[in-house]
Amino acid sequence: MKVLNLFPSSIIQDKILINQEVKQGMIKEIETMVSNSKNKDDKGTQDSWTGDTQGFEYIFKNEKFSFLLQEVKKIIIKYVKHLGINDDKIEIYMTRSWATVSNGKEKILPHKHKQSHISFAYYLKKNLEDSNIMFHNEHFQNEIIPGLFTNRSMRAGGVLKEINLYNARSLDIKVEEDDIVVFPSKALHGTQSNKSNMGRISISGDIVCVAKDSKLLENMMPPVNNWDKM
Ligand SMILES: [Fe+2]
Repeated sequence: MKVLNLFPSSIIQDKILINQEVKQGMIKEIETMVSNSKNKDDKGTQDSWTGDTQGFEYIFKNEKFSFLLQEVKKIIIKYVKHLGINDDKIEIYMTRSWATVSNGKEKILPHKHKQSHISFAYYLKKNLEDSNIMFHNEHFQNEIIPGLFTNRSMRAGGVLKEINLYNARSLDIKVEEDDIVVFPSKALHGTQSNKSNMGRISISGDIVCVAKDSKLLENMMPPVNNWDKM
């Protein structure tokens, strides 16, 4: 028997190796950002610290992060090529980049980066026990009986015998320090909620693709330098 999985959602996992001194420099910068948070009341006690909500959403402007972000760009090109996109026909912009810090039971609830096309998470500091990134299924392509995968009683009543890749509501990706995960910005994601973190630090970013030449293209955003500011 052959199983043909049609219409998969592609997430890539790769590694970025950076020398220890540069990594420590980035960690120090992030610690300074945390202590200079601009919106401390926004963070609940169970929420991870997220730089984009605390006034630090452009870390690509900080030279301490330049090597990392250069490497990220190479992996983003691999990702678009994987999707069959001709990278000669698009311009790729990183629009925002920020750090997240998680201690203890802090977590990031499921969300999407609606303002963006491609997103990434790079793990600057992570123990194996720290929480992993989780992706949540929204489409349930294989849910042949309504509620089969989404209603608890189906599992409790033994109708759904096992959770696997074909019926899961959510899946976590086992990530280690130095890993990077690249995914569609529209993918619903967050962090595992049942883990205890020991100062896990990740760096996230949003990427937008525009057409190099918009001539005869109906859908894609045209080149930024052709936009008319109103
Ligand atoms: Fe996110």
